[in-house]
Amino acid sequence: MSNIMLVTSGKGGAGKSTVSVNLAYSLINQNKSVVIVELDSGLRCLDVMLGIDNVVYDLGDVLSGACSVSAALVSPIEKLNIIAAPANVDFEINPERFKKLCEFLSSKFDVVIIDTPAGIGEKLQCAAISANTALIVTNTTSVSTRGAEKAAEAVVDAGVNDVKLIINRVEKEEDKRYLPDLDAIIDQIGAQLVAVIPEDKLLSKNPLERTKKEIKQSLGVKAFLNLSERLNGKNVPLIIK
Ligand SMILES: Nc1ncnc2c1ncn2[C@@H]1O[C@H](COP(=O)(O)OP(=O)(O)OP(=O)(O)O)[C@@H](O)[C@H]1O
Ligand SMILES: [Mg+2]
Repeated sequence: MSNIMLVTSGKGGAGKSTVSVNLAYSLINQNKSVVIVELDSGLRCLDVMLGIDNVVYDLGDVLSGACSVSAALVSPIEKLNIIAAPANVDFEINPERFKKLCEFLSSKFDVVIIDTPAGIGEKLQCAAISANTALIVTNTTSVSTRGAEKAAEAVVDAGVNDVKLIINRVEKEEDKRYLPDLDAIIDQIGAQLVAVIPEDKLLSKNPLERTKKEIKQSLGVKAFLNLSERLNGKNVPLIIK
């Protein structure tokens, strides 16, 4: 498994942060240590998603040298850490410093997940020069697919060789005419499909607050388990029925 992975989508709201959190949680359940770096400015959300209320320092503080890396790591549960996005909307990320930070984190954790903001600009470039794998997240709509296509092109141009595709929020459809054409999406984006994640409300709930019953019944949780196993090199089925 490559150990610095960026999660991107091009368009906003495709599910990058949901994928980052649920993948991380699935990986720690397989005994991997994971850090999620929230590469955004002003729109911090990982702390809320994970019920963290003790963020003192953030990515901006680490990159500007105002605090040590360890001071900015916040852990809601053993083996999982986050570095929160800079609170300052105007914070400019220095690409070289960000890359060095990711390299340092990859020596301390099994997996580094970079949760990128929407868009294909400077922040995605920063993530792309730092990561060895890109996980492209798309929904089944044509607008989302277009965004993902552009994001995939941007990361390849920036030198990421390993680009993988996650199709998110796939709804169960009784009427076959309305089933999304996953092959067309894969062809357009041109990346290897590694997960089909169903629409599942539980994926929006803090993983630390889910009941055993909810977890057992959730196809979404199962899809993330399969994804993490697949990223670990196991041969597991792709489509969840
Ligand atoms: N598979 C899913 N099933 C149900 N809800 C989902 C799923 N994936 C994402 N969502 C919901 O969609 C919304 C957007 O998800 P999320 O915040 O993860 O997207 P994002 O790509 O990180 O957005 P942004 O571009 O703003 O960073 C959230 O309300 C989230 O709970
Ligand atoms: Mg997000």
